[in-house]
Amino acid sequence: MKSNSEFYRSLALEVKALIDEDWITSLANLSALLKQNLKDTNWIGFYLYKNEELVLGPFQGLPACTRIKMGRGVCGKSAESRKSLRVRDVHEFVDHIVCDSNSRSELVVPLLKGDRLIGVLDLDSPLIDRFDSIDQSGIENIAEMISMNIAWPDRL
Ligand code: SME
Repeated sequence: MKSNSEFYRSLALEVKALIDEDWITSLANLSALLKQNLKDTNWIGFYLYKNEELVLGPFQGLPACTRIKMGRGVCGKSAESRKSLRVRDVHEFVDHIVCDSNSRSELVVPLLKGDRLIGVLDLDSPLIDRFDSIDQSGIENIAEMISMNIAWPDRL
């Protein structure tokens, strides 16, 4: 049985291998890879920073809200602070934005390339407290790999 850190090390290698020269192609496949590999998740995907707000990008799960203002919800707060946010129970998070009412815990990690905010990677689970600190650092590492290895256009 792999430890969780080993699991994230091997998942990071799969992430790197899936990166394509087209950024949308990469994010589409990466949302599928993460959703297939992270058990007890109901929504995993990307929001991209465009025109000073977050706009829905490639994802796996139910249709979701298309635009999130900076500072709003877990995603907007993570994007604004440029720090990952791990929410044990979304019902206790003031200003949580409900996209899938099954979601009970959430992990949001910003995608940063140098000073540039690219967007966020958002993971939702139907279980309370699904994500621990090892998931947080594993997903932070994967988000960094995605940010650094994709050839982002100047305008998304
Ligand atoms: N719950 C998020 C909104 C996005 S959905 O979960 C897909 C939030 O509060 O920012």
